[in-house]
Amino acid sequence: MKWLRPLLWAVLALFCIGIAVMVPRALDAYKTLDTERNATPTPTADTQSMFYVTVDPNNTPEPTPLVLKRGMENDAVKKMQQALKDLGYYEGAVDGQFGSGTAEAVTLFQSQHGLTADGLAGSDTLSLLYSSNAEKYVPTPTPTVTPSVIRKGEHSDRVTAVQERLQELRYYTGAIDGQFGGGTEEAVRLFQRQNGLDVDGIIGSLTLTAMMDENAAGIVITPTPDPATLPVLVNRDNPLDASFVPDNLVLLRNVLPSSLVYVKGSEIEGDPTAADALGRMFRAAANDGVTNWQISSGYRSYAYQKKLFDDSVDEFMAGGSTYASAVSSTRLTVADPGTSEHQLGLAFDITVPDTAIFKGTEQQIWLYENCWEFGFIIRYQEDKEDITGYLAEDWHIRYTGLPHSLTMRNRDWSLEEYIEAMEP
Ligand code: DAL
Ligand code: ZN
Repeated sequence: MKWLRPLLWAVLALFCIGIAVMVPRALDAYKTLDTERNATPTPTADTQSMFYVTVDPNNTPEPTPLVLKRGMENDAVKKMQQALKDLGYYEGAVDGQFGSGTAEAVTLFQSQHGLTADGLAGSDTLSLLYSSNAEKYVPTPTPTVTPSVIRKGEHSDRVTAVQERLQELRYYTGAIDGQFGGGTEEAVRLFQRQNGLDVDGIIGSLTLTAMMDENAAGIVITPTPDPATLPVLVNRDNPLDASFVPDNLVLLRNVLPSSLVYVKGSEIEGDPTAADALGRMFRAAANDGVTNWQISSGYRSYAYQKKLFDDSVDEFMAGGSTYASAVSSTRLTVADPGTSEHQLGLAFDITVPDTAIFKGTEQQIWLYENCWEFGFIIRYQEDKEDITGYLAEDWHIRYTGLPHSLTMRNRDWSLEEYIEAMEP
């Protein structure tokens, strides 16, 4: 087997060559690996430790999660809790445990910074939390439930309840229909005025509370004329005796402060209860900012009314009218003696000093809207001329007392219609 020896030598030689080539390559490969394993980790863009992809040479590298959420427990959570606590969002323990308190604090922080308030602390939340733009917690006041006001135009059950209550207190005499109309508004205004509330006819919480209070005050009825009896009707069909003079007439200048109203003549008199109501009415007007009132006429005796009537007839005749035509023209605006309600001491002509036309003044508008609450009515209205027999007079008010004046207003009745409807 001489041929075997040279073969063995050849195989050995080849093996040695192989070793010589492979070992240095293996050493290079090992060196590269070793360098990588000892490399210093490079932090990601920002400097927040929970975002570092850390490489521990002794352990298998494990990246920190990018979103902190409920159930987690780690230092990143702890750091976040501390930051939330410093800003006032978190009051619990800084223990690294992400529980419900922490979630609430995160949600609060997010909602106050315009972020999606989901209680998950992702990169947007955390970067803002650790930045100088993080704002301290500002407690928002607990919203209180403000009941919406009840006003004219509403049709609802709560309007029905208000009407029932106002009827109970005798401010309201209209239908219980749940419809907040002019009559309901008038009753609300009267309730407000008599109870020291702002008079706007709108039921806000103050008015509602006062109205529903079990001790709420019923309407204060002015004592005379007796509210239980109907107001006296004086017109062409219902004249007064020439000798009729009311009791207890008072000089208006003596009972009405000149700061509230100018009484045009020192001799002008009126019924004391009506004069009292005038005082309350002009005071309320002043409170509403409407001043500069004048009373041009009050009580008129039969004789004085006769003089007014005759003077007017003479004036028409001087203008060329026949006696008959002068009388009928006069009768459109001046009552025959004995048929004027000025003779009752309950009628007054309200004007503005040095102003010829009352209609359209702020005083006229206020009077038209408010006199009813004080027991007065606008006695001669345009749409009632056929019934009253006189051209409309915006200035002539008649005291009937409450609740009559309000009922007439609510039902849109002239005094004639009211008496007819109410008489048994
Ligand atoms: N001007 C009213 C109608 C009166 O004379 O009584
Ligand atoms: Zn008059």
